[in-house]
Amino acid sequence: MMDEPGPLASFPRGGVAVVFGAGGGIGSALVSALETTGSFRQVVGYGRASSPPVDLLDEASIEHAACAAATLGELRCIIDATGFLHDDRQAPEKSLSQIDPQAMARAFAINATGPALLMKHMLGRLPRTGKCVFASLSARVGSIGDNRLGGWYAYRASKAALNQIIRTSAIELARRAPQAICVAVHPGTVDTALSAPFAAAGLNKHAPPQAAAHILRLLDRLTAADTGGFFDWRGQAVPW
Ligand SMILES: NC(=O)c1ccc[n+]([C@@H]2O[C@H](COP(=O)([O-])OP(=O)(O)OC[C@H]3O[C@@H](n4cnc5c(N)ncnc54)[C@H](OP(=O)(O)O)[C@@H]3O)[C@@H](O)[C@H]2O)c1
Repeated sequence: MMDEPGPLASFPRGGVAVVFGAGGGIGSALVSALETTGSFRQVVGYGRASSPPVDLLDEASIEHAACAAATLGELRCIIDATGFLHDDRQAPEKSLSQIDPQAMARAFAINATGPALLMKHMLGRLPRTGKCVFASLSARVGSIGDNRLGGWYAYRASKAALNQIIRTSAIELARRAPQAICVAVHPGTVDTALSAPFAAAGLNKHAPPQAAAHILRLLDRLTAADTGGFFDWRGQAVPW
């Protein structure tokens, strides 16, 4: 598939697109791809280094950015590209014996509670009519039905929690904005800092611009009937 997403014809013209996690591998590619489409009057990227900064562990920073974004125009496309798998303090568990309560709480704070706070402050600001999307980057390994390999307890469980929060928020959102769409998206395996230590050689890894184009093409195809769903980058439903 091509790297250029093309115009997102299904979105009403003149809206605003917002990316959270804009400093990340996929998030920064999404900002560039959204700008390339020319489908939005403004594309805003928020992250811990943006102005204003957004830290998922600081609700006030989320509320502040949500207010700032809403002043720019109609929020038509919001993508949460934040997420956490490993850093120099913690790595995914290979077995139960490696479970650490603090590490687990941290994964949940960033992968589940953080996006829940984004939804808390952003979904009520979506327009009541016309297509608008809130998409959160989840991961296929968060699928309970698709779990064949085990391991990665904190990441898997926090992404499963994220999926439930997406589904629950979609139900609430539909009552106020019936054409709005709230989904979880598996971006595929993408060549970023998050996947670098783990993606097996030979695995079909996408470059971030390719992944961004896939995600935007998916969002363009989604309709209100898809809200509350969990989709991979090809548009196929992922089992919960
Ligand atoms: N790469 C893959 O193969 C793959 C596969 C499946 C799912 N995903 C999902 O795709 C999403 C993006 O991943 P990526 O590969 O682009 O990883 P990445 O390059 O490591 O980016 C992660 C992003 O999360 C942000 N983040 C982490 N902790 C945060 C916090 N406390 N507050 C605010 N932002 C925070 C980072 O912000 P800073 O820039 O401020 O550090 C960064 O923008 C994640 O949800 C990941 O689980 C990725």
